[in-house]
Amino acid sequence: MAINDFDFVLFGGGGDLAMRKLIPALYMLARSKGGFPPSARIVSVGRHPFSKEEYIAMLDEQAKCHIAPECLSKEAWSAFCDRISYVSVDATDPGTYAALKEDMRSEPGISRVYYLATPPALFSVICQNLKQAGLVTPESRVVLEKPLGRDLASARQINAEVGKVFEEKQIFRIDHYLGKEAVQNLLALRFGNILFEPLWRREWISDVQITIAEELGVGNRMGYYETSGALRDMLQNHLLQLLCIVAMEPPVDSTPDAVRDEKLKVLRALRRFTPNTLVQNVVRGQYRSGHVHGEPVPAYRREPDANPQSRTETFVAVKAEIDTWRWSGVPFFLRTGKRMADSLAEIVVRFKSIPHSIFAQPISSFQPNSLVIRLQPDEGLSLSLMAKMPGDGMRLRPADLGLDFRETFKKPRMEAYERLLMDVLRNQLTLFMRSDELEAAWEWVEPILEFWDQEDNEPVFYSAGSWGPGAASALIGRDGLQWREEALPEM
Ligand code: BG6
Repeated sequence: MAINDFDFVLFGGGGDLAMRKLIPALYMLARSKGGFPPSARIVSVGRHPFSKEEYIAMLDEQAKCHIAPECLSKEAWSAFCDRISYVSVDATDPGTYAALKEDMRSEPGISRVYYLATPPALFSVICQNLKQAGLVTPESRVVLEKPLGRDLASARQINAEVGKVFEEKQIFRIDHYLGKEAVQNLLALRFGNILFEPLWRREWISDVQITIAEELGVGNRMGYYETSGALRDMLQNHLLQLLCIVAMEPPVDSTPDAVRDEKLKVLRALRRFTPNTLVQNVVRGQYRSGHVHGEPVPAYRREPDANPQSRTETFVAVKAEIDTWRWSGVPFFLRTGKRMADSLAEIVVRFKSIPHSIFAQPISSFQPNSLVIRLQPDEGLSLSLMAKMPGDGMRLRPADLGLDFRETFKKPRMEAYERLLMDVLRNQLTLFMRSDELEAAWEWVEPILEFWDQEDNEPVFYSAGSWGPGAASALIGRDGLQWREEALPEM
């Protein structure tokens, strides 16, 4: 599908996200097959009064290093930089938008994409100022980066304020997890194959685990993270979106509202926490010092710029329940943490046990089948089966049937941001959140936030480099289950 000619306006053009993800993704798209229309432009916007040369020098230094060396060529980089201009705008000062207007093209038929890689407190004022400057046309789109609010009230406010300027069909709320290949492959697995769908329900599935574990700490983002924490940073968005993709009913087609309607139904069917279930089913953790792959790392409270009494969670685990015919009684265990033993993101769908062993080995030695959808580091699927060990006798043990996407398709994969930016440019909303979805997700996590705010309770601690606090093992243990790494048999 061809991309219409566009002006891509990047607010926060000098920021960390622009340097690490957005500029590299735009470069990759510009040099891809089909590429950008010849006159398509990128207008970077920031407060600092950089000249174009200074800004390009910054990209050379800070953005280029995030592009795979085999994809970089002098000619392609220089052609890409020719598309870029830099405009200094104070987002809160309407008077400064004239400079932006001057830099943009006004011919009809040119799409305008405003990407707001800024703190959410600026979303509303930027939208108003764009409108006041006459920069919002029916062909305009706005892309909002998370965090999309810090609770239900602020998310509603953002939706309402942005909604005064842009129609819902012009608003792209980005969750980069939806741009990951493996997530789209999960859609392919569920709705492009007949095999799993009949089994994809309470009768056959025992539980679902979704883990996003990171070895990294908070790096230089302490200012943001301290007021956010793992629940707002990861659970409310990435983990809940993954849960929706696993649990949703088959949409009638892949149009934006067909998919988003189904995701919304899942969010609305999530069982609300009560004071009792909050204590039982939610674990809030923070890392203390420890070792990650042998390297000593400090406690969260001792990181540079940290509050030494901080109660911010760097780990959260939750048992979620979905009250529908399909999922009633199937627990969904979600967890995420920083400074964990390994960096990985995966979804594990565990099936029920066989009812009876016809072999000499006891039924307890049969590991239930499980399907693992691996998002990172390597992307793939694996289905664990019980298989006979070679040789005499009849001894069964678990073995994996695997599909490594990279090996199988021998095609370079697209980074999540590349895929999602491509969708924005093509005006495809399916992989972006609708306003009601965003609010439903906040509505579900709100009781946890309120509980943590009211209670004068500390997070439980875990050692950096571990799999999280013991309380997270206890949480899943109450259902007689274990996290995957705890359950893997010794080989
Ligand atoms: C971001 C969070 O949304 O996702 C970060 O703000 C986190 O804290 C990141 O590190 C993880 O993304 P990925 O794609 O590296 O797993």
